[in-house]
Amino acid sequence: MSSNEKVPQFMPWVGEEEYGAIAECFENNWITEGPKSKEFLKKLLDLIGARYGVLAPNGTLAIYMALKANDIGPGDEVIVPDFTFIASASAVIMAGARPIFNDVNKQNFQIDLSNTEKLVSPKTKAVMPVHIYGTIADMDMVSAFAERYGLMIIEDAAQALGVHYKGRHAGTFGKAGTFSFFADKTITTAEGGLVTTNDENVYQRLLYLRNQGRTKGGSFVHPELGFNFRITDLQSAIGIIQLGKLEQIKQRKLNILKRYQDNLSSIRQVSFLKDTPGAERIPFRVGILCDNSQSLLKHLQNSGIEPRTFFYPLHKQPAFSYLSEEYKKRGLNMNDDAYPNSVFGFDHGICLPTFPALSENNIDYVCNCIQNFYA
Ligand SMILES: Cc1ncc(COP(=O)(O)O)c(C=O)c1O
Repeated sequence: MSSNEKVPQFMPWVGEEEYGAIAECFENNWITEGPKSKEFLKKLLDLIGARYGVLAPNGTLAIYMALKANDIGPGDEVIVPDFTFIASASAVIMAGARPIFNDVNKQNFQIDLSNTEKLVSPKTKAVMPVHIYGTIADMDMVSAFAERYGLMIIEDAAQALGVHYKGRHAGTFGKAGTFSFFADKTITTAEGGLVTTNDENVYQRLLYLRNQGRTKGGSFVHPELGFNFRITDLQSAIGIIQLGKLEQIKQRKLNILKRYQDNLSSIRQVSFLKDTPGAERIPFRVGILCDNSQSLLKHLQNSGIEPRTFFYPLHKQPAFSYLSEEYKKRGLNMNDDAYPNSVFGFDHGICLPTFPALSENNIDYVCNCIQNFYA
């Protein structure tokens, strides 16, 4: 590969088939939520093994809907890992509740509930494991924690379609699970999301919530307060094709991870995130922990590669600084010393390009650049 070529962080894997599926919607003259969405939803629920589900406009609103449908709102607290995309916590705030950040483990940056004395208060309603980078939180630990304190589990499985823990699909362990189909997700509908639940009451609430407080269109009587969280058949048509490629996507991403691991195994300054015991993963991202990560990031960028940092810890987010007074009143703090692993992840973590169409040549080029950097 020549040095002026570019290796992006991500490229969606869409083409002729997805294009044809959209055309079919036009030919059938059905573009809003309709038959394609029904089919997409059914296929998703079959895959995930959840009893009920509703499609959502994106993963952020899916979390919001999951919280609202479970009556989580003003006065409530939700335990959220400090290391996640900001939407996990901002959706809690959108629902009117307060996120309580919790540190993660150092092996793969999933929520760690072993140090919990101050975390739970009478206001705590739920714990939100967020399954990061293609593996899954230790759901035995999360379930035991939730049971001990009488909390709901709401899973943010935005990155975890096709990911299992001890044979069970992510998003099926608690009161609700949420998924994202944004362009960089395991499968994409451009924008899109899903809420799953095994609870019929929660499902009914979700139906009202997403469709203007009624369960059928065409009526102007609204038994509940709801909004418009529907999607379009154009998106679902893409989703059906993408779902058909899931096994291929999984295999390609596993091959990508293996090639990175094989190529970089002799570099002692680099280590890979571990899989959770009992998990079957689909590497959403290939994350490495490395020495001197800031300089390596620059070196990769100067070589035409688009690396990403790990998540910026939520307790450090400027957008959440206003929470610090509330935290103090609760006997909690938003300083780095309360979240050492999350801080370590940001300081040492780099996401390498990972997408289904990434070529072996591209992977070898990225690895050569890393080898040269440490040489
Ligand atoms: C862990 C996590 N939660 C939530 C979201 C939000 O999903 P969306 O971008 O579809 O709103 C994302 C998206 O990147 C995510 O990675």
